[in-house]
Amino acid sequence: MWFKAIENLSELNEMTEISVGDNHLVLSNHEGEVRCFENRCPHEDFQLSLGCIQNGRIKCSLHGFSFDLETGESSEEGVDPLRLFRIKIEEQVIYVEINPDQ
Ligand code: FES
Repeated sequence: MWFKAIENLSELNEMTEISVGDNHLVLSNHEGEVRCFENRCPHEDFQLSLGCIQNGRIKCSLHGFSFDLETGESSEEGVDPLRLFRIKIEEQVIYVEINPDQ
């Protein structure tokens, strides 16, 4: 199911925290690539919006692990992948897809 996340693409910062229902997410806009991921590090639940994006990965500021923004893959073995969410942009509005079983 698609939810409106941001009214206008121009409101997007490098990392913008959003809430959709009970989901706390981050919309990132890095070098023109817009991504959406859960604002919770799979390692120890730290806020990923406090980290930074480098080479297509979000780096957690607590222990420095990073996660691929295309696949969710962790830099560390044994750490769960990051939950990613599909987005679509229509006439500058950003929508995020959230499925009830997610
Ligand atoms: S809490 Fe994110 S790397 Fe440890």
